[in-house]
Amino acid sequence: MTLADPHGRTTTTTTLVHAPSDTAGEWWRHAVIYQVYPRSFADASGDGIGDLPGVTSRLDHLARLGVDAIWLSPFYRSPQADAGYDVADYRAIDPLFGTLADFNELLERAHQRGMRIIVDLVPNHTSDEHEWFQAALAAGPGSPERERYMFREGKGEHGELPPNNWESIFGGPAWTRTTDPSGEPGQWYLHMFDTRQPDLNWEHPEVRAEFEDVLRFWLDRGVDGFRIDVAHGMVKAPGLPDWHGSVSMIDGSHDEAGSTGAGNSGPMFDQDGVHDIYRAWNKVLAEYDGDRALVAEAWVEPLSRLARYVRPDEMHQAFNFSFLSTTWDAAALRTVVTASLAANDNVGAPTTWVMSNHDTVRHASRLGLLEPNSRPNGIGHGDEQPDEELGLRRARAASLMMLGLPGSAYIYQGEELGLPEHTALDDDLRQDPAWWRTGHTERGRDGCRVPLPWKAGEPGFGFSPTGATWLPQPDSWSAYALDAQKGVPGSTYEMYREALRVRREFHLGSGSLAWVDGVGDEQAAVVFANRDVLVVTNLGDEPVVLPEGATVLLASGDLVTEDGRVSVPTDVAVWARLS
Ligand code: GLC
Repeated sequence: MTLADPHGRTTTTTTLVHAPSDTAGEWWRHAVIYQVYPRSFADASGDGIGDLPGVTSRLDHLARLGVDAIWLSPFYRSPQADAGYDVADYRAIDPLFGTLADFNELLERAHQRGMRIIVDLVPNHTSDEHEWFQAALAAGPGSPERERYMFREGKGEHGELPPNNWESIFGGPAWTRTTDPSGEPGQWYLHMFDTRQPDLNWEHPEVRAEFEDVLRFWLDRGVDGFRIDVAHGMVKAPGLPDWHGSVSMIDGSHDEAGSTGAGNSGPMFDQDGVHDIYRAWNKVLAEYDGDRALVAEAWVEPLSRLARYVRPDEMHQAFNFSFLSTTWDAAALRTVVTASLAANDNVGAPTTWVMSNHDTVRHASRLGLLEPNSRPNGIGHGDEQPDEELGLRRARAASLMMLGLPGSAYIYQGEELGLPEHTALDDDLRQDPAWWRTGHTERGRDGCRVPLPWKAGEPGFGFSPTGATWLPQPDSWSAYALDAQKGVPGSTYEMYREALRVRREFHLGSGSLAWVDGVGDEQAAVVFANRDVLVVTNLGDEPVVLPEGATVLLASGDLVTEDGRVSVPTDVAVWARLS
């Protein structure tokens, strides 16, 4: 491809790194998928906690936005020790969220509107209230009931020390000692997350059989796929050896391969044995009509290791957390995009882009930090407060860049409104177990889980018919409410909507990627062509002049026109049609 300057001279060169794919039938290769976090999306019952009827009542919003599918975070029966990622019954809906009939209705209505539904599966651990764990506690050491979990004798003269030195991702030890039915201190059990989330033993055939049955339970109901929680965690290294490295998911700065270098994440993660599980699940999904998908939540690096989860006989998508964690720097972004496409092309899988979810500070706030796009575990009083205006400007640019990339993309609820993190939440309202498990050093994830603002002028911004919200919303959110943005040219919501429309029209999801050199400074601008669309994101201080013949389709901010030439200011992204 060539682009010409005003005098007709060719000034740019392009390097193709990813060719278009012709896989129209496989929707998950190019879909835009919207994450609904049910407790914070919309409340129909009036208790201030979102629910499934609330989601159903707002499906028109998602259809109008133009998403292809919805991923629902867990709504199963749960004591909510980790906001539902502690499941007590994988086949039942928690009364907080509704009933199975409510779920069926949501699924049917989403399908009627042409949107697919992905549900969340949490196989690494159950809730401590799961009947298996209760049976294991009651049955005592050596019982078959205990075999389904990771019970071990303690070390030390009286078993008073944990079996190894592993730490929980949420802070504190990864082991809790039990009390025997006799009342004496007993064995320890492993929990990589909260004490109330005991890890299952995936070497046990009953555990494997049970989860295949759970998959079938939801497939029989018509779901289109599953997001697999902690997909890299189910199998542990034999002997559970001590580990002196970090157990946090991914930490930050990237090396040349587009990875953080945190690849070796220890004996509790990314063991080869997990792949057998996904090969078996792939076969279960293949028993069903249609085109169903498994998406991996696997905090694994480098990207070549992550790509192993999406080999042709395993899962279909894996969230690209290396991209999510990349600093706001043109060279670093180019590197991670190239490395991502190469690693996935190698196994014939799409790349699955994501900027925000229910576990990370919202990207509109991360990008407003002094170290842009660093990932603190929550932000609160006394912490550095992000620059809200700068963060939003960059977030809009980052999202437009992401949606212009070939592959699938996930949107976290509220990012289409440009929502910032709640960075001033009262600490005594925090519910994330990470807050107390770290001795109040990590704020945790509540700030990205605040109920959505739908109507600027109503109590609770219209989240609930009673005005109740399980976490308070910042007053400034009136400006972000959906009704304050709908139909307003240039609003973040209308930008997302238009981006999804153009993305579909030009088939960008199944498109190509060629780096374009010669438009702006390579160190300061990320410039690529996807099919006939040029995507320019300016991260530098100087404006970037668009090539002659490029017709602007969409921009994340105001552009400047001088002498008939359009230029892209700092922290703005633009999509332009190539002649
Ligand atoms: C995943 C979820 C997170 C949860 C954890 C334990 O990382 O996304 O919200 O706390 O797993 O299930």
